[in-house]
Amino acid sequence: MARTNQFIRLVRRPEGNLAEDIFEVAAEELGGPGDGEFLLEVSYIAIDPALLSRMRDEDNYTAGVAPGDLVWANGVGVVVESRNSDVAVGEIRVGPVGMQQFLLQSDPGTTRVVDPDLGEPRWHLGVLGTTGLTAKLALQTVGEPKAGETVLISSGGSSVGSIAAQLAKSIGCRTVGIVSTDEKARQICTDWGYDAAFSYRGRSVDEMSASIAETCPEGVDVYFDNTGGDISEAVIDHFNLFARHIVVGRIAVAHLKDTHADIGRRDGNTILVKRVKKQGFVVHDHAAARPAAVAELVAAVENGDLVFREDIVDGIERAPEAFFRMIRGQNTGKQLVRLN
Ligand SMILES: NC(=O)c1ccc[n+]([C@@H]2O[C@H](COP(=O)([O-])OP(=O)(O)OC[C@H]3O[C@@H](n4cnc5c(N)ncnc54)[C@H](OP(=O)(O)O)[C@@H]3O)[C@@H](O)[C@H]2O)c1
Repeated sequence: MARTNQFIRLVRRPEGNLAEDIFEVAAEELGGPGDGEFLLEVSYIAIDPALLSRMRDEDNYTAGVAPGDLVWANGVGVVVESRNSDVAVGEIRVGPVGMQQFLLQSDPGTTRVVDPDLGEPRWHLGVLGTTGLTAKLALQTVGEPKAGETVLISSGGSSVGSIAAQLAKSIGCRTVGIVSTDEKARQICTDWGYDAAFSYRGRSVDEMSASIAETCPEGVDVYFDNTGGDISEAVIDHFNLFARHIVVGRIAVAHLKDTHADIGRRDGNTILVKRVKKQGFVVHDHAAARPAAVAELVAAVENGDLVFREDIVDGIERAPEAFFRMIRGQNTGKQLVRLN
């Protein structure tokens, strides 16, 4: 059956200029699946900050998006037609489907089947997907927080940050969040149980450093770094002996033309003197840990120990708008786009 597939195409790389005209809405006619192919009707896509890095023309840990390409996005959908013996009609699949209404594909390995008993399918784009897994596994494998320690989280109101905060709190840590505005700082203490929070927008490294001294009087044991840039520079002087710096994201600098431009003060001396462990974390390295981690996240959600929010806009044509909501910090939960 022929269908029209609306999708979002990258027009140009951001290269320091993050404007709406980097994307355009396009459409194509899709035939039915050929031999070995299947057709997935996408229900939701996630707006993940990782897209920022993927649009850059440089090495990354994942494949990039070039001008003219379908824009990358994780999504979840239902198989509506299949001529692939390994894929059944009605299956719910999650994975990198792209910002589009339909995915026509032959390789079932790029998406995986969602167990319909494990929450709402769209949760696999958030709390049960890369978001929840990143929060949990980055803490577990690199951060290793212990009761009584201080865990500082940049982009503390983000989906990853808010889950990391709750998990750290549940093991008895003091949690401190860094967000764009004072209002958001108050909000994350109420919503996610942070012990303290402060804002970064319009503030110098020295000013942020003073806020860290005030909100982390015992120093920082674990820095859950979602941003990089000036915020991370402000943390350097506050690391405790044997602190752990988990480099999880670079949202503050990933749109810059030169991502190396963010290097301010070097942290080498502090790393040596304080024996700080600084390690990058990429969730894709932890596929083997996923089933157990998802089971624990489901249990935490079901018994009310873990709460999360979603922010949903409707229509594939609004995916660019949703991306800029996230970039501007206007999202009030995991930013999703509902397609049907
Ligand atoms: N390494 C991995 O495997 C992995 C996997 C998933 C996610 N991540 C990373 O985790 C981080 C959070 O992702 P998410 O999906 O939870 O995000 P999210 O819920 O979409 O929230 C993104 C938040 O980032 C903040 N932000 C936007 N631009 C910023 C800037 N220029 N400087 C500082 N903060 C900015 C905004 O909050 P404010 O209003 O506070 O600025 C925004 O609400 C991202 O860095 C992402 O790349 C890493």
